[in-house]
Amino acid sequence: MKKDSKQHIQQRATEPFVPTEGQQEQISTHAEGQSGNSVLRQHAEQQFAEELEELARADRQQRPPNWRLSPWAVRTYLLGGRLPNGFQVSPKYIGNARLIEIAISTLATDRALLLYGLPGTAKSWVSEHLAAAISGDSTLLIQGTAGTDESALRYGWNYARLLVEGPSPAALVASPLMTAMQTGKLARIEELTRISSEVQDTLITILSEKTLPIPELNREVQARKGFNVIATANNRDKGVNDLSSALMRRFNTVVLPLPQDIEEEVRIVERRVADLGQVLELPAEKPALEEIRRVVTIFRELREGKTLDGSLKLKIPSGTLSTAEAISVINNGLALAAYYGDGTLRAGDLAAGLTGAIVKDPVQDRIVWLEYLQTVMKERRSWQDLYRACREVV
Ligand SMILES: Nc1ncnc2c1ncn2[C@@H]1O[C@H](COP(=O)(O)OP(=O)(O)OP(=O)(O)O)[C@@H](O)[C@H]1O
Ligand SMILES: [Mg+2]
Repeated sequence: MKKDSKQHIQQRATEPFVPTEGQQEQISTHAEGQSGNSVLRQHAEQQFAEELEELARADRQQRPPNWRLSPWAVRTYLLGGRLPNGFQVSPKYIGNARLIEIAISTLATDRALLLYGLPGTAKSWVSEHLAAAISGDSTLLIQGTAGTDESALRYGWNYARLLVEGPSPAALVASPLMTAMQTGKLARIEELTRISSEVQDTLITILSEKTLPIPELNREVQARKGFNVIATANNRDKGVNDLSSALMRRFNTVVLPLPQDIEEEVRIVERRVADLGQVLELPAEKPALEEIRRVVTIFRELREGKTLDGSLKLKIPSGTLSTAEAISVINNGLALAAYYGDGTLRAGDLAAGLTGAIVKDPVQDRIVWLEYLQTVMKERRSWQDLYRACREVV
C-alpha cells in the first residue's frame, strides 16, 4: 500500500505549518482518552478493541489510503461474522446489509456520508462504529446545535495567547474537523440540520476543495487522504434548517429505516440490552425473550396505529417510540428487578417504564394509552399480568 507522504498542511508561501505541541497534545488526548474499566461508556474503538485487532490481522484486502481496515473488514465489523481463524465478530448494526455497504463505499470516495432517518434508528451508533473501524478514532465529533458557530467547524483561538502573540499557529485551536483533515481521519457531525444554514455552508469548501483556509495566518490546511465526514440528521427535525442543495450535493444520503419486522426489532433490543446490562453490571437475569417481545409489540402497534394482525386501528401517541426507547424500558425494568425485585424481569418492573415512555403528554397520551390497555392488552390472555401492572401505574 502506498503511503501518502505529501505535506498535508501547507503554508501558501513556503514554510510548512507543523502542528505545535499544544495541538499535538490535543490530538492525542482525544484519541487515547481513558480506557480503564471505570469509564461509564467507552468509545467503540476501546470497547471493541479486540475485534478490531483480530479483523486487522485477518484482513488481506486492499485498504483505501489511511484506512485502518479494508471495506470488507469494516463491513464485517459492522454486520458481524466469523473470521477464518474462528474468531466471532459481533454484529453492531442489525438490518439491511446493503445500506452499510453503501455507507462504507461512500466514505472511500470524495463524497461525504449523511445518515438520515427517524430518531433511534442507529444513525449515531453506525456513525461511531464506522469512524472506529475506519480511522480507529470515533472521537472527532461535533455536536450540531442551533448555537454551533463557524469556529466549531473550522478553528478557534486561545485568546490569552492571541492577545500576547497575535495570530500564530500556537494560538490556534483546531476543531475536530480540522484535526480530522490534518490526520486523515473521519470527522463526525451529529444533527447537521440543527446547525444554521450560514454555518452549514462552511462545509461546502471543506467538502469540495478538501481545504480549510486560515486567512489570519495566510495558510491553509489541506486534508490528508483518509479524511471524510459522516453527518447524521433526523427526520423529525426536517425543516429546522434544511440542507442547501449545494451542500446536499456533497453528501451521499443513506436513510436508515425502522426495523423491518418484529423479529428484527426483538433481536436489536435483546442484543443491546445484553450489552448495556454488562456495562452497568446489573445483578439481574437476562430478560426473557417473551418480555422483550411484548414491549416491542406494544411499541410497534402504537407507532403504526394498528395491532400487529391489522385487526384494530389505534391512536398514535405524541412521542417517538423508537427502538432506542424500547431498549431503555427493558433496561429500566432490569434495574428495578435487580435492586427491588428478585432479579427476574416481571410485568411490574416494566409498567412504569412503559407508561413513562408512552405518556409524554399527560392528557392526550394518557387517553391513548388507556385505550390501548382496555382494547388491546386486556383482551390478550397471556398479557393479564402486564395489563394489571400498567393499570396500576396509570
Ligand atoms: N438496526 C439497529 N441495529 C443495532 N442497533 C440499533 C438499531 N436500531 C437502533 N439501535 C439501537 O438504538 C439505540 C439508539 O440509536 P442512536 O442513538 O444511534 O439513534 P439515532 O438514529 O442517532 O437517534 P437520534 O435521531 O435520536 O439521534 C442504539 O443503542 C442502537 O444500538
Ligand atoms: Mg443520534
